[in-house]
Amino acid sequence: MSDTLLARLTEVVGATHVLTELGGHPDLADYRGVYQGRALAIVHPGSTAEVASVMRLSHAARTPVVVQGGNTGLLGGATPDESGRAVVLKLHRLNRVRAIDPSNDTITVEAGCVLQHVQEQAAAADRLFPLALGAQGSCTIGGNLATNAGGIQVLRYGNMRELTLGLEVVTAQGEVWHGLRGLRKDNTGYDLRDAFIGSEGTLGVITAATLKLFPKPVGCLTALLRVASPEDAVSLLGLLRQRWGGALTAFELFSGSVLGFVRARLPDKPLPVPDLDEASWYALVDYADFSGDPVQQTLFEKPLADALESGLLTDATIAQNEGQRQKWWHLREHGVMEAQATLGRNVKHDISLPISRIPSFLVQSQARLQQRFPALFIIAYGHLGDGNLHYNLVRPESLPLAEFIGWEDEIHELVHDLVHEFGGSISAEHGVGQGKRDALLRYKDPVELALMGRLKQAFDPEGILNPGKVLPASVWPGA
Ligand code: FAD
Ligand code: MLT
Ligand code: ZN
Repeated sequence: MSDTLLARLTEVVGATHVLTELGGHPDLADYRGVYQGRALAIVHPGSTAEVASVMRLSHAARTPVVVQGGNTGLLGGATPDESGRAVVLKLHRLNRVRAIDPSNDTITVEAGCVLQHVQEQAAAADRLFPLALGAQGSCTIGGNLATNAGGIQVLRYGNMRELTLGLEVVTAQGEVWHGLRGLRKDNTGYDLRDAFIGSEGTLGVITAATLKLFPKPVGCLTALLRVASPEDAVSLLGLLRQRWGGALTAFELFSGSVLGFVRARLPDKPLPVPDLDEASWYALVDYADFSGDPVQQTLFEKPLADALESGLLTDATIAQNEGQRQKWWHLREHGVMEAQATLGRNVKHDISLPISRIPSFLVQSQARLQQRFPALFIIAYGHLGDGNLHYNLVRPESLPLAEFIGWEDEIHELVHDLVHEFGGSISAEHGVGQGKRDALLRYKDPVELALMGRLKQAFDPEGILNPGKVLPASVWPGA
């Protein structure tokens, strides 16, 4: 049976695009090396029509299909299971920009386009595509849609869902839904677009999307701001929202102790934060300048000067040039992750909370963790403007990695229970994948879960799309 399927897949996409010698292939493991799987084949289709044929053949053969974009997901959503039955459908050849309509402020791109390429194409048309995240040089629009990615500009422009107008999707059975509408208003019934966004390859294969574009700022003013506490960081966020309005495009928070950790773990890379105070908290903020008028500098600086005077800010450094700005953003988007990786695997949380409750969450979670796991170090940073924290635990070097990983489930439960008590979510922007699948049973409304199971039944009754991801087995028997 599998030989017949492989022969047919080869007819459809060509022999060079069906890989079957897969020993140690990097696409069978996730980005962090936490999940590892096996596959019947990795298939590289070159068009929507080829994706549809692959789906029809796989559906007829009852063969699971795991869609993969850039494989930068952080919860094992794109990694097949260990059965070796699945076809991995890798979409990097679907990489065309189909259209840009500057008057409608839209761009239509194929799912395998790398995010950074889409940003560049928008910029070439004097527009902004605002999704921005650390993996933008390799993640794809399809993966961004399937995980409803967030990143650093959500507080101004929204997450991937809010940036999307239309989709083209291949169903589990191999039909093509032509939904590439560039409409900002369309109330003609149920919104299927929103069902596919965030579905992590379990409901359909996204092959193209029509996305929103925005006016491109002519410049960006950036500051690194120091505050005494998370409470003050929340007050600062409120102040900048009020005084900068829509010009505030990013508000990222780190604890000073995280920056001290980066400095200690990456000694060859000078930390671009002079006079670091590890007991303080730091905010990295961007102000978008749409006019280039010198008055913008004043509008940017005046609230910071006022906050220094009132004591809300204890220090403020304004980027003097693009190089300094890039160093801070590199620290935020890469340095913090790299420093954690020097200790091997960490225990990650991607949580969201009402912004007002973040300070007390930080106090209570630290108290609970210190009581149960006093040796662990807390790495707290994230997108404060969205109420989204990356709240990770790293081990001391003296603690064996295996022992630390043995605590992982208990650590997750401790943190997620508290998030739940605070009215938050256990996944803000990274999705569910296989890593958080079973935790949904503990935290998600049972009716909501049952409806998700019925949606899966309606879209993919044979359960061939990404089995074992998102839906717990008791909700969807095919899991
Ligand atoms: P993959 O990892 O290949 O796939 C992810 C999921 O989507 C899988 O379930 C897969 O089956 C499904 N999928 C992929 N393509 C399709 C498709 N065409 N149709 C249907 N399903 C599909 N995320 C954030 O939200 N914000 C961040 O700031 C952020 N920063 C990151 C920084 C780094 C350094 C890294 C490594 C990751 C980061 N992420 C962040 C994680 C984020 O999910 C991914 O970067 C990105 O959105 C996934 O895209 P991908 O193409 O790599 O998808
Ligand atoms: C980020 O914000 O940098 C990403 O979501 C990745 C992470 O740190 O977990
Ligand atoms: Zn993030």
